[in-house]
Amino acid sequence: MKNYSIAIDGPVGAGKSTIARECAKRLGFIYVDTGALYRALGVYFAKEPDGAVEPCLSSAAVNLKFIDGVQRVFVNDVDYTDKIRTPQASMLASDISAKPAVREYLLELQRGFAQTQSVVMDGRDIGTVVLPNADVKIFLTADPRERARRRYDELVAKGTLNGTDAEFEDVLDDLIKRDHNDSTRAHAPLKPADDSITVNTTGNTFEQSVEVMLKTIREHL
Ligand code: DC
Repeated sequence: MKNYSIAIDGPVGAGKSTIARECAKRLGFIYVDTGALYRALGVYFAKEPDGAVEPCLSSAAVNLKFIDGVQRVFVNDVDYTDKIRTPQASMLASDISAKPAVREYLLELQRGFAQTQSVVMDGRDIGTVVLPNADVKIFLTADPRERARRRYDELVAKGTLNGTDAEFEDVLDDLIKRDHNDSTRAHAPLKPADDSITVNTTGNTFEQSVEVMLKTIREHL
């Protein structure tokens, strides 16, 4: 039986992970969140000086395991899943992901997930670099203030933020900075693949976004 691969790329907070996870569930595919790999490496190397990361990469064995259908990320068999969703981890991930050696290090691992099973994989360079032959490529985006609002609401709900206007402006600034980092880096920058379909979720409810995505995927499979 053919394994299908769906590549979903896009900027911070476009809803990639929640929408991709739900689409994968409804399609019966595995959901692979590649950002978790960069986040885990960013946190793992957080205390290392800049130049020390590349020579030490091979000592950081990263892996994803799917436990009861939920993805967890490990570095040297230590579970990092609960440490990677903070604003600091986001920026560490964005910074470490600009290093070509880091991207190269994670490339085969990511490709391996799509070889043996049908996947919905999300990230920044899935359609352009990781899975250039993906069956469907979607570039998922939304207006920056709306993306910041969603990210902010998530962090307030988790208790990471208190819910002040100043915090919202910080989240918006971080998001703009991270988008800039991710889309201007020399190696595998965030950009739509030439053969991708852009889906803009501004103003959509979660369910509407999932419906649009599934319709787009089914039309192109
Ligand atoms: O999707 P995310 O916010 O969890 O990703 C965290 C950072 O990792 C993001 O700022 C850029 C980087 N990243 C990447 O460069 N390539 C990917 N395929 C996934 C994430």
